[in-house]
Amino acid sequence: MGLPTNGSTGENQLKFLIYGRTGWIGGLLGKLCEAQGITYVYGTGRLENRSSLEADIAEVKPSHVFNAAGVTGRPNVDWCESHKVETITTNVVGTLTLADVCRSKGLILINYATGCIFEYDSLHTLGSGVGFKEEDTPNFIGSFYSKTKAMVEDLLHNYENVCTLRVRMPISSDLSNPRNFITKITRYDKVVDIPNSMTILDELLPISLEMAKRNLTGIWNFTNPGVVSHNEILQLYKDYVDPNFAWKNFTLEEQAKVIVAPRSNNELDASKLKNEFPELLSIKESLIKYVFEPNQIEVKA
Ligand SMILES: NC(=O)c1ccc[n+]([C@@H]2O[C@H](COP(=O)([O-])OP(=O)(O)OC[C@H]3O[C@@H](n4cnc5c(N)ncnc54)[C@H](OP(=O)(O)O)[C@@H]3O)[C@@H](O)[C@H]2O)c1
Repeated sequence: MGLPTNGSTGENQLKFLIYGRTGWIGGLLGKLCEAQGITYVYGTGRLENRSSLEADIAEVKPSHVFNAAGVTGRPNVDWCESHKVETITTNVVGTLTLADVCRSKGLILINYATGCIFEYDSLHTLGSGVGFKEEDTPNFIGSFYSKTKAMVEDLLHNYENVCTLRVRMPISSDLSNPRNFITKITRYDKVVDIPNSMTILDELLPISLEMAKRNLTGIWNFTNPGVVSHNEILQLYKDYVDPNFAWKNFTLEEQAKVIVAPRSNNELDASKLKNEFPELLSIKESLIKYVFEPNQIEVKA
């Protein structure tokens, strides 16, 4: 079986097989497919178990496969520092196995990966507006999670059937979700204040479905253009959601004392995605349209 080569797959030929049913992104993908009337099925196999993936594909006969399965660690990626083999089993062995099975069946795999494999450096300094491009080599291996994700991205680059989406600090309009970056930083005792590229899921997950329809592959910085800092987000939160909200900042050095592994801070260059989807909003516009306006408290007259 060959990969689809001639442009888009027709709407009525679409059947998505999605891994990550119980996860945040996987759950949202199912809801989106329902809303758009796209036929979809959640995979029941475990990523590291090749025959279970082959059985799913034989049964479902999908047009495209989506991988939103992976270990991210609970309560956060520090978990991966003390569970290295478990992290490798799913995020390395599992992800590569799924990509390999999909390739052997002639299927495109849309893989929700991470952009937390870069950190600001002398050529991409904080505040310069110069972001890392798709072809840049990852330079952040400070956490085991990021290190293994960077290794996998490099290996997956050899698979012509894989569409790698570099997600960063995902945000959704559901401010009650503890995984949401905004929810996280409003609940911390203290936060750092660093501009970063981020992914507004309400805007970008529908784009990922469209990328499947267009049979796009390769690496994509999957963030809204531009950067936003912690304090800018918290100020918007105060302006739109909770006028009584207050927060305290601390430095990266102080943050290092309360986390196990360092975290990545970077700007990704989103121009490749913007060229494909010219309607893509900048991070600040998207935050307001998709997150803060829908959550705006009613101002009493
Ligand atoms: N959330 C973030 O901050 C973030 C940022 C950037 C990138 N990403 C990436 O995006 C992907 C999805 O993230 P998420 O936040 O939606 O994750 P999540 O909420 O933690 O969900 C992970 C999903 O993966 C499944 N899973 C774990 N190990 C599996 C295995 N071996 N085989 C099959 N399924 C397995 C889980 O199912 P079970 O419960 O059955 O194990 C769950 O459905 C991950 O690869 C993550 O690295 C996330």
